[in-house]
Amino acid sequence: MTLNIKFAAKPTKDTDTVIIGVYADNNLSTASDALNVDTANLIESFLGKQESFKGKSGQIITAPVLDEGKTRILLVGLGDPDKIDGSAAETVGGKLYVALKSIGSKSAAFILGDDEEPENISTADMGAHIAMGVRLRGYSFLKYKTLDAEDESPELGTFTIAGKDNKKSAKTYEPLGHVAAGMLWARDLVNEPPNMLYPESFAKMIKDELKPLGVEVEIFDEKKLEKLGFKAQLAVGMGSARTPRTVVMRWNGKDASKKKSQPLAFVGKGVTFDTGGINIKPSGGMEDMKLDMGGAAAVVGLMKSLALRNAKADVVGIVGLAENMPSDRAYRPSDVIGSYSGKTIEVLNTDAEGRLVLADCLTYVQRKYDPALVVDLATLTGAMMIALGHEYCGTFVNDNDLWENMESASKSTGEKLWRMPLDAAFKKEMVSSIADVKSLGNGRYAGACTAAGFLEHFIEDNRPWAHMDIAGTAWVKSDSAICPKPGTGFGVRVLDKMIADHYEGK
Ligand code: BES
Ligand code: MN
Ligand code: ZN
Repeated sequence: MTLNIKFAAKPTKDTDTVIIGVYADNNLSTASDALNVDTANLIESFLGKQESFKGKSGQIITAPVLDEGKTRILLVGLGDPDKIDGSAAETVGGKLYVALKSIGSKSAAFILGDDEEPENISTADMGAHIAMGVRLRGYSFLKYKTLDAEDESPELGTFTIAGKDNKKSAKTYEPLGHVAAGMLWARDLVNEPPNMLYPESFAKMIKDELKPLGVEVEIFDEKKLEKLGFKAQLAVGMGSARTPRTVVMRWNGKDASKKKSQPLAFVGKGVTFDTGGINIKPSGGMEDMKLDMGGAAAVVGLMKSLALRNAKADVVGIVGLAENMPSDRAYRPSDVIGSYSGKTIEVLNTDAEGRLVLADCLTYVQRKYDPALVVDLATLTGAMMIALGHEYCGTFVNDNDLWENMESASKSTGEKLWRMPLDAAFKKEMVSSIADVKSLGNGRYAGACTAAGFLEHFIEDNRPWAHMDIAGTAWVKSDSAICPKPGTGFGVRVLDKMIADHYEGK
């Protein structure tokens, strides 16, 4: 069932749960004015007697009163009005969703108060972000479950933001809703098992979804890739019966008068399953490697968000899709392979496959489209996960202006980026004695940095470029405040925001 987010002056008739915000120290928001006077007074005195409920952000308690016996009343802590911001409101929304599901609510309404505005966000915008949190946390991936469906508690069908400022909330929610749609699709793709999602089927899913939205979609099959010379990407896919695909997507959203400028380019690693190849991975945890197309999922999710909100930007997305398998036809450690760039690559470990796929896509998109900047996203290294866990995405950037734009988008969306070093030493370490470059550094240290150093060999003309290693952030091992495990859709939101704030209309 899909969750409907609504905005209305009053809770809809079918509302079974009314939610009232409580600021820190049990300061009841004026939202309680929406209740009848007796009920509001009862809640006030109930709050006065609470030992542990203190209106802390995300605290939830059911009030032991029924508004004329028809509706449940849920009190939710909003914390200190000086501290609440968009991300905090989304966390509150996520927690609300979990509570609403556990009490079996089918239709709930959060009432907007008429209080003095919090310091960093208006009450109406807070409502929009609470709705966003509900939407993101309310995501589920149940398409392959055929049993037990009826035993599960009923799904929340409607979440309404109600109050006189509901139109303002709706306006703020509109772009958020579009970005949520892109993120949730990216999650779906990451969560798909690899027997269902492989290069050919993934390419078709992309076309089926994006073409109706006005995105141009071009699919290169194996023959076309051979003709074009995507030798590094093809080498990665050689061991699999499921042959590689590359998908190029174009969103032309700029006004015709501004058409001449260069597009923005986004590149995604789409390894639909990474066994490691001949350098096969240990069996424990190998199942996680279905998420190795998280970069590609983020790029296509971004294209969807841009199209839905009719972004005024020209954007090209490219995703390199391949399955990394061991077989008699697989590439080997010590092979020397070619690449689209013309550079030769000494393969030192077949499990360092993502950088090979990216190398060809990076060169292609630069030479074909001359983009103003390139951002790649890839679940590239275990080393990145060791360094920053699931919390931060390590980001390597060769241009300070681009980094500033990414950083500000990161701060306002809550998708956390941490700048990592691109250093000439790492680039140099990737020079091979037998070929132009080699796919592995000299030791096991700084694995995320040497991977970035390898990619840097494929950046031409000092083009502004960012490499986002999303190995940790593309997925979570346990449910987070705004995301059930595993796929997160990370990257869609921060890049959509970066484009909206810094590159549209220019
Ligand atoms: N897809 C993996 C990286 C990864 C690991 C992503 C864990 C998410 C979670 C990548 O292709 C890989 O295998 N990298 C190797 C590189 C090494 C061989 C230089 C790694 O990190 O061990
Ligand atoms: Mn690998
Ligand atoms: Zn991989």
